[in-house]
Amino acid sequence: MRTEVRVPRDPVMDGEHPDVVVADVARRTRPASRIMVVANEKGGVGKSTIAFHLAVAMADAGLSVIALDLDRRQQTLATVLRNREGTARRLGVDLPMPRHLVLHVQSGALLCQEINRVGWGSDVVVIDVAGFDSAIARRAIALADTLVTPVNSSFVDLDLLGKFNPNSLELVAEGCFSVAVNEIRQARKRAGQPDIDWVVVQNRMRRNAGRNQDRIEQALADLAPRLGFRLSGGLSERVAYRDLFLLGLSHLDLRRIPAMARSKSDANREILTLLTDLTVVPG
Ligand SMILES: Nc1ncnc2c1ncn2[C@@H]1O[C@H](COP(=O)(O)OP(=O)(O)O)[C@@H](O)[C@H]1O
Ligand SMILES: [Mg+2]
Repeated sequence: MRTEVRVPRDPVMDGEHPDVVVADVARRTRPASRIMVVANEKGGVGKSTIAFHLAVAMADAGLSVIALDLDRRQQTLATVLRNREGTARRLGVDLPMPRHLVLHVQSGALLCQEINRVGWGSDVVVIDVAGFDSAIARRAIALADTLVTPVNSSFVDLDLLGKFNPNSLELVAEGCFSVAVNEIRQARKRAGQPDIDWVVVQNRMRRNAGRNQDRIEQALADLAPRLGFRLSGGLSERVAYRDLFLLGLSHLDLRRIPAMARSKSDANREILTLLTDLTVVPG
């Protein structure tokens, strides 16, 4: 007969101790730029989409932006920003261009080196992290001034933030991603560093989704003070987010492209509200 043994989670056993992670990035120089990290241990929740729209919207607002793609296998953020350069050339328009690069060698030393090399003098460095826990993902979080975590409107997605009783929807435990983030925050506190501003963004929200959407919103509102994050306005499910994304375009660009100059004011408002929530532009 097999006996199931449940090993309690121990940060030292589960990976490096968070103090080691924080010390590894704290001892290296970093630019004065604001570091905005988009991360969640889940794939397909819209991290690269949000990193792209944030980078473009901040460049559009006149900031100098560096986009660093840590997902060296998928390279979604770097690919769409390359596509953006091609689209601008093809259409003969001048678009605000975040500089972009992929972190091919995934060590804390190289992460800090590349942020310094490319990001020196920039206003913001946006880092798109791959959707699984890794030593490099933890180092990126340890460097963050702002951590942006997209979640989709399902309890399966929320599970990484908090574990809920499926019947009563009571919070029963912290989820694995929250544990990792809060371990790093505690380690930063011990090292005398400022706290991370952690912002959770609902993505792919559906209008008229009814009771499920209400329950998700209630669960997130309950989780926020217990886990120490803020909630932002959120992005809707939009075909245009998907289609424009491939071309490396954001709704904000359409006004600069005569052939596509149709108004998408609702989508613009969602992105601009997110910038206000992240205190990039005043509300
Ligand atoms: N708000 C949205 N509306 C419509 N499609 C979206 C939205 N956000 C993301 N998507 C689509 O979902 C898929 C996964 O998004 P992506 O940003 O690549 O996720 P991740 O980086 O978390 O793996 C992509 O096809 C993307 O175009
Ligand atoms: Mg991605």
